[in-house]
Amino acid sequence: MDYTQILTQIHHDIRPLLGKGRVADYIPELGKVSPHHFGMALVTPDGQTWSVGDAAVPFSIQSISKLFACTLAFGLLGEDLWRRVGREPSGNAFNSLVQLEYEQGVPRNPFINAGALVVTDVLCSRFVQAEAAVVQFLRRVSGNMAIDYDVAVAESERQHADRNRAMAYFMKSFGRIDMPVEAVVNAYCRQCAIAMTCEDLARAALFLANGGVVPWSGERVLDPSPTKRLSALMLTCGTYDEAGDFVYRVGLPAKSGVGGGIVAVLPGECAVCVWSPALDHSGNSLAGVQALEWLTTLSGHSIF
Ligand code: DON
Repeated sequence: MDYTQILTQIHHDIRPLLGKGRVADYIPELGKVSPHHFGMALVTPDGQTWSVGDAAVPFSIQSISKLFACTLAFGLLGEDLWRRVGREPSGNAFNSLVQLEYEQGVPRNPFINAGALVVTDVLCSRFVQAEAAVVQFLRRVSGNMAIDYDVAVAESERQHADRNRAMAYFMKSFGRIDMPVEAVVNAYCRQCAIAMTCEDLARAALFLANGGVVPWSGERVLDPSPTKRLSALMLTCGTYDEAGDFVYRVGLPAKSGVGGGIVAVLPGECAVCVWSPALDHSGNSLAGVQALEWLTTLSGHSIF
């Protein structure tokens, strides 16, 4: 399929929505980003790329990093990962603490903050610098060796991470965190502060659309079965407590971040990333969700 016309139409039609919603400002550095950005990139396993708008502008990937950190941890531990973190949608805000007490410090899934802290704890146990392992992985799967975390964003988050710290200490009180909390929170903040473009992120997610193999390098990241399972988790848990509505509207597995990015995959066909910083009430990019809804409607392609 030639996506040129579809992306051009989306880029045109999205304009009235740009600036609607709110840029995340609980991490002060993120609050400085203009809400009017919009970029979108779509890549296919045969190496074609379509992009519009600010698709080559780097932004803070935030919780999209949870997808790649989880890929690494799943690759290391396999099914044993699920002894430490669940696989159910939370139905609560991504930074909510309430379920943790009822469920003895086991987070519902790896894509909410508590679950991602457990995943980072797994990586901290295996690597001297967990965030460097995530950065290296992203460089490899995107092909962009310049990818790194933004020091100012990481520091801004570290200074405002008391809720994440509270969650990590709470889980540690149940014996669910092995490494020192401050080390886990620091690595987590740096991993969230990784800066990438829509083009980088679409390329980085392409292995998920290609049975676990990076198409241009031939590197196998995951076997086909864990690749399917990770995509299933994206579908049910990747867009916070809006996952049901997102799937209803878009029909693709996806992972979003409060930087305004959303990565989605159509297995066998393509990976796509959209970025627009202003968020809806759940913390998903308002224009980004709309753009993806239009993509699957106009192309007639989704997983359903
Ligand atoms: O921990 C935080 O609140 C941010 N670094 C990331 C939040 C985000 O993108 C949505 N979380 N699932």
